[in-house]
Amino acid sequence: MPSQQHNKIGLLGAGNMGSAFYDGLRSLFPSEVLYVADKNAEKLAAFSGAHTSTDFTTIIDACDVIILAIKPFDLEKSFEAVSAASMEDKLIISMLTGASLARLTEASGAKRVIRVMPNLAVKVGKGVTAWFGNDAASTEDKAFVEKMLAPMGAVHALERESQFDAVTAVSGSGPAYFFYLCEALTAFAKQQGFSEALANKLAAETCISAAALLEQTDQTAEQWRRAVTSKKGTTDAALSHLEANGFVQLMGEAMARAKNRSEELSNA
Ligand SMILES: NC(=O)c1ccc[n+]([C@@H]2O[C@H](COP(=O)([O-])OP(=O)(O)OC[C@H]3O[C@@H](n4cnc5c(N)ncnc54)[C@H](OP(=O)(O)O)[C@@H]3O)[C@@H](O)[C@H]2O)c1
Repeated sequence: MPSQQHNKIGLLGAGNMGSAFYDGLRSLFPSEVLYVADKNAEKLAAFSGAHTSTDFTTIIDACDVIILAIKPFDLEKSFEAVSAASMEDKLIISMLTGASLARLTEASGAKRVIRVMPNLAVKVGKGVTAWFGNDAASTEDKAFVEKMLAPMGAVHALERESQFDAVTAVSGSGPAYFFYLCEALTAFAKQQGFSEALANKLAAETCISAAALLEQTDQTAEQWRRAVTSKKGTTDAALSHLEANGFVQLMGEAMARAKNRSEELSNA
């Protein structure tokens, strides 16, 4: 039985998501146990205190836990110079969209692999992250992932790997749907003569205020929508137009496309 330690934590890829994860890791672990690799030396300058290298192999060799924050197409070549034997005792945690547990095991040579699907808001500790591990990942590995993700926002364990495609369509791509809605509110406010700055604020603050109601109360979105919609009032005039034009169906179709695309990427 290999030792299953989680002492030295290596982050491969110091881009958007890698940096966001590093901030979460720093709130839990001292920088001496954190290792970061990226091929761009200038990106590594931001990780003061952590061990850094432009050479992936050095960081992989040094760590018990390897967090993959590279692009999916960089997976295989990132492990080319790493021997499968040296991966035997290591835990891989991957956020690579569409990279299956089987592909991750094959590419890295590691046995214990856990996939996570975060969204962009992990950058501000308000992310939504789903995870699922393979059979070789231990109870301790799973507890480690839950602990590691906690400072980054909400964390949900999936029941099976195939749920990643739907999670990607809902919480992974989801922030962009809300940004798009916010853009539509802004465009209308500008058409009404508000300055760009005020239009942006009115729209963004409205999204934040609605989100705060969902976060700080037990009422669902539907309950709040009904509460704010008086019959034949102003909100009713807007929402009945959306309903008559198939808003819910259109969103469902759009998200089905996101799910299908995730399936395609997984099978590519
Ligand atoms: N953005 C999201 O909302 C989101 C959500 C869920 C999951 N993800 C996943 O998160 C992962 C990372 O996304 P990201 O937006 O953070 O990507 P990114 O900004 O491109 O960061 C990846 C970094 O890793 C570096 N890199 C790649 N291969 C390397 C190697 N072999 N050695 C050293 N450095 C290497 C890249 O360098 P170069 O740029 O020079 O290649 C880049 O700096 C992706 O797999 C994505 O599917 C993203």
